Amino acid sequence: MSALHGKKILLGITGSIAAYKAASLVRLLIKAGAEVQVLMTAAATDFITPLTLATLSRNKVHTDVASGDSWNNHVEMGLWADAMVLAPLTATTLAKLSHGICDNIIAATYLSARCPVFFAPAMDLDMWKHPATLENVGRLKGFGNQLIPVGTGELASGLIGEGRMAEPEAIVKVLSGHFAYAQSLKGKRVLVTAGPTYEPVDPVRFIGNRSSGKMGIAIADELNARGAAVHLVLGPSALSPSRPGVEVTRVGTAREMYKAATEVFGRCDAAVLAAAVADYRPAEAADQKIKKEGEEMSLRLIRNPDIAAALGQTKAAHQRLIGFALETQNGLENAKAKLARKNLDLIVLNSLADTGAGFNHDTNKITLLSKGNKKREFELKFKTAVAVDIVNALQDLWG
Ligand code: CTP
Repeated sequence: MSALHGKKILLGITGSIAAYKAASLVRLLIKAGAEVQVLMTAAATDFITPLTLATLSRNKVHTDVASGDSWNNHVEMGLWADAMVLAPLTATTLAKLSHGICDNIIAATYLSARCPVFFAPAMDLDMWKHPATLENVGRLKGFGNQLIPVGTGELASGLIGEGRMAEPEAIVKVLSGHFAYAQSLKGKRVLVTAGPTYEPVDPVRFIGNRSSGKMGIAIADELNARGAAVHLVLGPSALSPSRPGVEVTRVGTAREMYKAATEVFGRCDAAVLAAAVADYRPAEAADQKIKKEGEEMSLRLIRNPDIAAALGQTKAAHQRLIGFALETQNGLENAKAKLARKNLDLIVLNSLADTGAGFNHDTNKITLLSKGNKKREFELKFKTAVAVDIVNALQDLWG
């Protein structure tokens, strides 16, 4: 069955000669089992009739925010859709969307849509290459919308070059790829730990570390984007996951993180332990602020529980465990030892010796080491891209 089966697609058609291709796009989407609602700008109706598209989509076509005495609820349509596709998208509507100008039904719906948005521009060669267009495309991409690249060939003007709308088959392929990806971890439940832990010394002081939580949060978001149920146990971090589907338990200390993680692990298919857990805590946390006395003071520290090792001990045959090793020296050796000691299936090694890697950076450079000491090294990448590599590796562990 196509990944598009049962998906609700909102198709916005704007006034380009390529609008005629929208008919076969609608036909292909319907054939793949999608539900389609079509929105058109007034200019689009000069190129293809709403009647054609209403017939093919088996739904009324909307061309205006209000028609006669009724108001077409663009907010409702935006919420209805699983994906919005703008094809063809003209330079004019592209410019409007990139600046939030809302003077037609497509712009109004675009601004209210919460679903992923895909856009397939269509325009003449020089219009496509103009810096204004390139900037507007960049702005839409910056909003998280996905560009379906233009094709090259003969254009309506007679010029030959880039600017043609992607073929309907290519657009359908992008959409079904998106839905297949979004369901690839459906049915899996994953625990992720992230961030530092703060171990109180007294009511105003703590022992902690410089972890921002970025890497673990990016992993939680990536898992959820692929359809997994994610339980994120997050230490004191200023950040939060961007996907509302991620379930977050905020904790302060290593012992709180241990409790939260061990409580949910039994129900999970995997755990990714990205947290930088403090190995020791003050033996006693003072009730009142400690006042200074004398030239020296010492704190007695005691061991915190090791979450990764505890989960490694209870791990069932179907469960997978991924840990991290942040090292400043002898990275590989230390990582190998941790992999075995904590009964992990995979360990992510990052070395503070690599520039741009580790705490508080947006980037990271990792080496993955699996049981049997298989090693894979990766380039320096944004943490969101590193999260994709780590989740791919987890998917491989499930086979
Ligand atoms: N970890 C954990 N609980 C702890 C300490 C570490 O769950 N109390 C996890 C980390 O989240 C990470 C892995 O274990 O996935 C390795 O953490 P690291 O601090 O590098 O290893 P340690 O076992 O603490 O070893 P050392 O401090 O000697 O380097």
